[in-house]
Amino acid sequence: MRLLIKNGRVVDPANNIDAALDILVADGKIVKVAKDIKANGAQIIDAADKIIIPGLVDMHVHLREPGREDKETVESGTAAALKGGVTTLLAMPNTTPAIDSEENIALLKKIIGKSAQANVLICGAISKGRLGKELSGIAELKKAGALAISDDGSSVDNDDLLLDAFKQAKEAGLLVICHSEDKALSGKGVVNRGLIATRMGLRGISHESEYLRVERDIKLAKKTGVKIHIAHVSCKESVILIAAAKKQGVKVTAEAAPHHFSFTEEAVLGFDTNFKMNPPLRSKADREALRQALKDGTIDCIASDHAPHTENEKDIEFDRAEFGVIGLETELSAAITELVETKLLDWPRLVEKMAVNPARILGIDQGSLATGKDADIVIIDPKQERLVEKQKLISRSKNCAFLGMKLRGVVEYTIYKGEVHPWNS
Ligand code: DOR
Ligand code: ZN
Repeated sequence: MRLLIKNGRVVDPANNIDAALDILVADGKIVKVAKDIKANGAQIIDAADKIIIPGLVDMHVHLREPGREDKETVESGTAAALKGGVTTLLAMPNTTPAIDSEENIALLKKIIGKSAQANVLICGAISKGRLGKELSGIAELKKAGALAISDDGSSVDNDDLLLDAFKQAKEAGLLVICHSEDKALSGKGVVNRGLIATRMGLRGISHESEYLRVERDIKLAKKTGVKIHIAHVSCKESVILIAAAKKQGVKVTAEAAPHHFSFTEEAVLGFDTNFKMNPPLRSKADREALRQALKDGTIDCIASDHAPHTENEKDIEFDRAEFGVIGLETELSAAITELVETKLLDWPRLVEKMAVNPARILGIDQGSLATGKDADIVIIDPKQERLVEKQKLISRSKNCAFLGMKLRGVVEYTIYKGEVHPWNS
């Protein structure tokens, strides 16, 4: 089967391309990118006025399987990913059981083999059961196929244990993804600490609970030379620490989630639990710092932190609701609306944040539209606006912060390994 995508604007910063070009696909691979390609008998997609980019790489996704298939499965989560233009994702290990051993990686791989609709990469747990007490066999996780390790959802409290983990990860050549949070400081907080929390009578989560841990994680990375990646950066102090560490040559990268660069703590004033996540939405100044950090490169990439929860776990009192929101189906449109439409990023920079850089951080061969690469391609109508509606979301959970909002930029087709998925919004 051959596929010819004609007349679109191809934005492929990995190859320094931003031009009107055609793309020819055969047997799941990109075989030609050029002007006016002729291909008799090929299926044709007319992409006039559309933007064509490499499939997105989302390095922070909670698929919930094994263990919480009521929230999401590998199948439903990867279908949602494709709908959002994400063709490769890194699955976080806070499942039941946690992905902390060779056997559990084998179990997850089996599920992926059977039901994944997109490319699923595996993140192993730093500690056994993610309990922060004893390290999982880090070399063993790498051997079994993990691309990174993280205790995401929690931070490793014990400095000595983390130092040991960093040393082993360095030895094994594994990336460490840091959920930087001091639970002793965030405690029972549910929103950003400040006037809004006070006004609402809710307990706050301070900036310190994040940035003191970012500071520690960077210090240990510097000591060991391991590559670390700071997940879901939410406040400006963390941005300043990451920028300083990069200047000193520490091997640190960072991500921001769409909810953090789109909303502020004011969004929680209506007690809508779809604005409850960890770390919490912060102040306007923090949101601005994240946006500037995306622009200046301090923050390397955008990742959804797709965190599905059931209605029973979200549609309850703010204090009791679970932390987290889904994001796979809205992250690209949110980024277009908040970053491209506002002229903060141009299209090539956006593609860097959502495909090229996460692929580089993970050391995988994605995020490029060069000849010979997998035909993972997204075709976007950049002008079309779409209302985010619950009944149109295909993720098994519907806890989306963008519900009821109009977002610009609609994924018209996702092509995954040459297979065409058309979406009629
Ligand atoms: O809001 C969050 N939800 N933050 C995390 O770190 C974990 C995630 C989840 O797994 O639900
Ligand atoms: Zn996290």
